[in-house]
Amino acid sequence: MRASLSGRIGLAALWLAVASPALAADDGRTAIDLPPDVRAAFLEEMRTHMGSLDGVIQLLSSGDIKGAGAFARKEMAIGRGKGFGRYMTPEFREIGFGFHRAADDFARIAERLPEKPDSAGWAELMGGLAVVTTHCNACHGAFRLK
Ligand code: HEC
Repeated sequence: MRASLSGRIGLAALWLAVASPALAADDGRTAIDLPPDVRAAFLEEMRTHMGSLDGVIQLLSSGDIKGAGAFARKEMAIGRGKGFGRYMTPEFREIGFGFHRAADDFARIAERLPEKPDSAGWAELMGGLAVVTTHCNACHGAFRLK
């Protein structure tokens, strides 16, 4: 199970990032300073992520798991090369990479399963999606914009 192993390693990295005392700030999150235009583009990208996650869940709810996997890969598995990484700390980048990897792992699970999975298949699929949302949640818990 390569997918769930890399998921676990990702989670360990997340907990290190979240628990690190060096990150303590006003509300406990590290504040990232971005130039105004980059800030606007970054938040727009985030709203796109929300839409992508919603799209994946909509496809799953209609039973189109192949479509959900392909959509997750297209929308979330690959960084869009907008260059936000250069403004971020290594911890932020690590969670970001983990997020993209988790989306790719989810896409692989969807590819491998039959079109009509049994309940164990569905559980694996939802577990894969949970690794994606854990990364959204962990990053939001650890970082904010100034
Ligand atoms: C590597 C870090 C990271 C990951 C991964 C991440 N986000 Fe964010 N996101 C942020 C930061 C930082 C903010 C700004 C939060 C703040 O300033 O309070 C943000 C803000 C947002 C916002 C608010 C946008 C706005 O216009 O105010 C949404 C919606 C959002 N993220 C959705 C998501 C979703 C959905 C995922 C996963 C599918 C995700 N994010 C993954 C770091 C991340």
